[in-house]
Amino acid sequence: VTERKPLLSKNCMAAWLRFAKLYLNKSKDFWNNLKYLLEPPVSADVTGRSGDNVTLPCILRIKPSHYKVKWTKIEPENVGPENIIMISNAHANKPYGPLGQRASLRKAHAMDASLKLSNLELEDGGMYRCELVNGIEDESVTITLRIEGVVFPYQCKNGRYRFNFQEAKEACAEQDGILATYNQLYRAWTEGLDWCNAGWLLDGTVHYPIIHPRPVCGGELPSGIRSYGTKDKNNDRFDAFCFTSQTSGSIFYISGSFSFEQAGQSCKRQGAELASVGQLYAAWHFHNFDQCDGGWLKDGSVRFPISNPRNLCGGIPEAGVRSFGFPDKNTHVYGAYCYR
Ligand SMILES: *[C@@H]1O[C@H](CO)[C@@H](O)[C@H](O)[C@H]1NC(C)=O
Repeated sequence: VTERKPLLSKNCMAAWLRFAKLYLNKSKDFWNNLKYLLEPPVSADVTGRSGDNVTLPCILRIKPSHYKVKWTKIEPENVGPENIIMISNAHANKPYGPLGQRASLRKAHAMDASLKLSNLELEDGGMYRCELVNGIEDESVTITLRIEGVVFPYQCKNGRYRFNFQEAKEACAEQDGILATYNQLYRAWTEGLDWCNAGWLLDGTVHYPIIHPRPVCGGELPSGIRSYGTKDKNNDRFDAFCFTSQTSGSIFYISGSFSFEQAGQSCKRQGAELASVGQLYAAWHFHNFDQCDGGWLKDGSVRFPISNPRNLCGGIPEAGVRSFGFPDKNTHVYGAYCYR
């Protein structure tokens, strides 16, 4: 009787498994051979507006006897420790970091490892990983969370191309937004954004979206997103593309011939304050806010939102938020856009 020898020795097998774990794990989505986790058969994209609650689905097919589920946010721009949100096993779970404070497990049934995120913030958009940790056979699925919102160009009151990267970031924050991602700018372009000034995006690149090619905006190039590529964050200066989403309050217009200061006082009398540019864009985008009157905003600019384009309201055929720029604050011509 001859004993059959295994093809690979035990040591060799362990080494091969280590290799497989290291290198194949990275391309798990490509190999797509999950045993324990359910590969979502439909799109694994989730959308929500800021303030919403959403659930990122992750369902076990088979429950191993010992396992943990680890939820992380994948942040390609941050190299460093992984951004863990939640670790759970069959008995307990523990939240980690600031996102963990707004996270919980849905536990709709015995095989449910889905993550609930409450009170969404603009920065929550991105990719999330649900990982089953089970010794050698770790596996994961990724889910994309898209924050629904609107992109708006923002220019300094001192004129065109005044922001370095950090200043652009701060300008967006002051208008209740964040610097937009390329994906957000691309989507805005498909929805009609045409803007002939280049602006910073979140990843430090500079772009501008053109629908109607014209000589002063890049000449005869076809319509699309025009790219300046990656720029020097400290020394190069451009405008900003900001992204914002739904607001919790509401916007209203007070008609009048106010100076900037009087406009602020009129809002105050209504228990409100002058609206930010982001709040005006959000009302226009989500509630079709339409008002054919220029009004002061918090940053000292004068704008008005048009959802139903008509000749006497700016005469531009597309819907949008129009701007009169930053008039002299003592001009007594405009009303006020207030936020409460
Ligand atoms: C979201 O969930 C929280 C509890 O986590 C709840 O208090 C809140 O009302 C929910 N918000 C919405 C919009 O459903």
